[in-house]
Amino acid sequence: MAILVAAGFDEDEWAAWWPLLRAALPSEQLLRDRDAVAPHEIDVALVANPPPGSLRDLPNLQLIQSLWAGVDRVLDDTTAPADVPLARMVDPAMNATMAQTALWAVSSLQRGFFDYAAQQREGVWKQHVLRCADELTVAVLGTGQMGRAAAHLLMQHGYGVLGWSRSAGPLARVLAQANIVVNLLPLTPDTRGLLDAAAFAQMPRDASLVNLARGAHVVEADLLATLDGGHLKRAVLDVFATEPLPPSHPFWSHPAITVLPHIAAPTDPRSAAPVAARNIVALREGRPLENLVDRARGY
Ligand code: GLV
Repeated sequence: MAILVAAGFDEDEWAAWWPLLRAALPSEQLLRDRDAVAPHEIDVALVANPPPGSLRDLPNLQLIQSLWAGVDRVLDDTTAPADVPLARMVDPAMNATMAQTALWAVSSLQRGFFDYAAQQREGVWKQHVLRCADELTVAVLGTGQMGRAAAHLLMQHGYGVLGWSRSAGPLARVLAQANIVVNLLPLTPDTRGLLDAAAFAQMPRDASLVNLARGAHVVEADLLATLDGGHLKRAVLDVFATEPLPPSHPFWSHPAITVLPHIAAPTDPRSAAPVAARNIVALREGRPLENLVDRARGY
C-alpha cells in the first residue's frame, strides 16, 4: 500500500518535507503524484492545505493525517471521504511558535512598535507614554493547544489574560474587558464570522485585534468599517478570507492593518514529520490513532 502526500506545497516546501517524511517512514512508499499507482493502492493520505479533489475516489483510504493544525480545508472539501479517520497535527514545537507570534503581536501593540514603524516612514521623532504589560488585558479566543500555549507565554510576560472557548459562556463579556483580542479558535460552522461588527462594538475603544487562526472568523468588511470609524486601533492579521490576499485588497495599504502572509506558526517538518509518522505506524500496528478530529464538532 502507498501513502499519498497531497499538499499545496511550493517547490521549497517539497524540498524541506520530502527527505524528512522519507526518513520518518523508511519502509513506506510515498507518492507526490496520485496517478503513480492505482487508486485502491493508496491507504493513507498526508495532507497540507490539499487542493480540493485531492482525496476523491480512494476506496481503501484508512487515515487522513494533516500536516497542518487546522483541518477546515479538508472538512470543507465535499469530495474528500467523510467516514475516514482524520487526524490533526498536534506538535508542541508548533504551539511554541504560535505563542511566540502572539507575544510579538501583543508586545508590539503594547509598546507602540507599529506606530513607531509608521513614524519612521514619515521621519517623525515622537515618544509615546509607556503602557506596561500589567496594565493590559489580553483575551485569547480558543483554549486548545495553541490558545493555551499563547495564554501561558503572555501571562509569563506580565499581561492579564482571559481565555475564552465556545463552552465558556458569552463572548461579549470577555471582549468588553480586552485591550487586545488574540484569535486562536478552530474554524467551524459555529465560529465562522464570529468576529463581526457586533463583536467589535463590544470591545473597548482603542482595543486591537490579532487574528492568527483563520480569515473566515472575521467579517472583513465589518473590520474595515470599525477601523475606519476609529473604534478599534489596529488589526494584526496573518490569515484572510482569500489567500493569498488579492493585490487589490484594501487591507494591504490600510494604515491600521498589519498584514502577514499566513506564517504565524508554520509546521516545522523536523518535528512534525515524526508526529505524522507515529500515527501511520500506529495504524499499521493496529494501535489507537492520536489527535483524531471529531467531525461533528469540526476540530
Ligand atoms: C496553519 O494554519 C495550520 O493550520 O497549521
